[in-house]
Amino acid sequence: MPAKPNTAEGIEKMRVAGRLAASVLEMIGEHVVPGVTTEELDRICHDYIVDGIDCIPAPLNYTFASEQPPFPKSICTSVNHVVCHGIPSERKVLKQGDTINIDVTVIKDGYHGDTSKMYFVGKPTVLADRLVRITQECLYEGIRQVRPGAHTGDIGHVIETHAHANRFSVVREFGGHGIGARFHDEPQILHYGRPGTGVRLEAGMTFTIEPMINAGRRHVRILPDRWTVVTKDHKLSAQWEHTILVTPDGYEVLTRRGEEDFT
Ligand code: MF3
Ligand code: CO
Ligand code: CO
Repeated sequence: MPAKPNTAEGIEKMRVAGRLAASVLEMIGEHVVPGVTTEELDRICHDYIVDGIDCIPAPLNYTFASEQPPFPKSICTSVNHVVCHGIPSERKVLKQGDTINIDVTVIKDGYHGDTSKMYFVGKPTVLADRLVRITQECLYEGIRQVRPGAHTGDIGHVIETHAHANRFSVVREFGGHGIGARFHDEPQILHYGRPGTGVRLEAGMTFTIEPMINAGRRHVRILPDRWTVVTKDHKLSAQWEHTILVTPDGYEVLTRRGEEDFT
């Protein structure tokens, strides 16, 4: 079933939730340094989300499927070859040269804002620098497809094309998703596909685009904790995510950070 466009009131609440989610990523950047644990990053984000901006961290106790244990932390921290859904841990100490994706979802007044970005711990390798940049370009090219009458397959197609042109691969097992009063809703936004296929976009829809791009092969494995997704070949993976509103003449990036310019 295609996603129902939001009401004007719902859209305004999505704007607020999106802005607040973005502020978490802006706040945490200075804490991503060698020697910090991902557990410490989780604690700082949790306290800021709950006490600083009066929101609920959506990942805490969340499950996709009934046989999956509830997610035990407030953010996802995915380091190096971890593709997504990394669980913050006191045993995971960041070191010079690591890459980390921090994925934040907040609930404000019943509505969700979902966004993630890549951080470098100290100076990146040449490969990490290129993978992270190309992955962000994949997100931005996907966003530029968004307008009423476009299809979800248009988004996937430009993402896949840009990744492959740079000899990287696209993870297929996870995609973007409709979002609003629910965390994960219709439509599914695949990060590969053919133009003109999939769901037709309408003004008022809100969904995420969140490409996961691998330096090696696309295949992934889930660890015994039933959450952590890693590349099978243990090569590097990167991801960036925004929550997008379809507007009458294009898109609005609800989780835009101050450092970004979409005009
Ligand atoms: N934020 C992730 C997404 O982009 C979902 C994380 S679910 C969690 O869809 F439970 F792991 F937090
Ligand atoms: Co998401
Ligand atoms: Co997310």
